[in-house]
Amino acid sequence: MEILPQDISTKQLHAYLLGSIAPRPICFASTVDSEGKPNLSPFSFFNVFGSKPPICIFSPARRVRDNTIKDTLENVIATKEVVINVVSYAMVQQMSLASCEYPKGVSEFEKSGFTPVASTLVKPFRVKEAPVSLECKVLEVKAMGTEGGAANLIICEVVKMHIDDAILDENQQIDPHKIDLVARMGMDYYCRASGESVFEVPKPNLSLGIGIDRLPLSIKNSEVLSGNDLGILGNCTGIPIVADLQDDERLINILKTYDTDGVLKVQVLHQYAKELIGKGDLDTAWQVLLSE
Ligand SMILES: Cc1cc2nc3c(=O)[nH]c(=O)nc-3n(C[C@H](O)[C@H](O)[C@H](O)COP(=O)(O)O)c2cc1C
Repeated sequence: MEILPQDISTKQLHAYLLGSIAPRPICFASTVDSEGKPNLSPFSFFNVFGSKPPICIFSPARRVRDNTIKDTLENVIATKEVVINVVSYAMVQQMSLASCEYPKGVSEFEKSGFTPVASTLVKPFRVKEAPVSLECKVLEVKAMGTEGGAANLIICEVVKMHIDDAILDENQQIDPHKIDLVARMGMDYYCRASGESVFEVPKPNLSLGIGIDRLPLSIKNSEVLSGNDLGILGNCTGIPIVADLQDDERLINILKTYDTDGVLKVQVLHQYAKELIGKGDLDTAWQVLLSE
């Protein structure tokens, strides 16, 4: 399927974009209006863009339905302040409730049952239940259009961070398993960053990986190894010199059994190596791969 934005309705384009650009982090934005009345609403057009100065941007867009603008945008234009709270799994249902279009002046803190806590450098409250809250000054509000669906980029500078001690590890770093964040996907879907969904991809900072282009041809063109397997091998700093795996019975068996069928032998060796890569045993994987 190919799409030119001008050929489909904004509503449909919106759905395709939100289904594709996902999962998106959620900015649970707390603002106050010019009279100090609180507002709390989620926005997944959101990210961090730098740390010196620390910059976050989120976007309350013009409603596609009727081209009206959101209270959060009005509040931010009036007060130039916001507290961005991140959203953990434990908060997701209440956060969703806070996205209802309550009339201006109704506090979503009350409706959604979150606890407001006074901030120290800005007027809007922070959310007590959030694992991290960012007190922000708004540097600029940039309207990207005037029609329904147009973004309004709220460019914020973080002036103070609040981090719940309970999400820190022993090195005082944020533990991705403890923070248990949720993110927004297309339609009504969310995803939870926990369990096996949270995984590491080791990246050597000082030493360069050899790259997939430098892998031996039979490995690079393998019918068994996946793109992820090749990525892991290409991230190694060199092709190791192989020692004989005298005591690896499986390898010895493979070499014996498929001695006369080179093509099948390579496939079976690659299958074995794939399993080893999956277990993180790269040394043995290389030895298996290079023994063909
Ligand atoms: C998880 C989630 C993410 C959302 N992200 C956005 C967004 O990025 N931009 C937007 O304009 N509306 C977004 N919405 C819808 C707004 O939260 C909703 O329009 C809300 O009523 C706005 O409140 P306000 O008028 O009090 O600012 C999102 C809703 C949910 C539940």
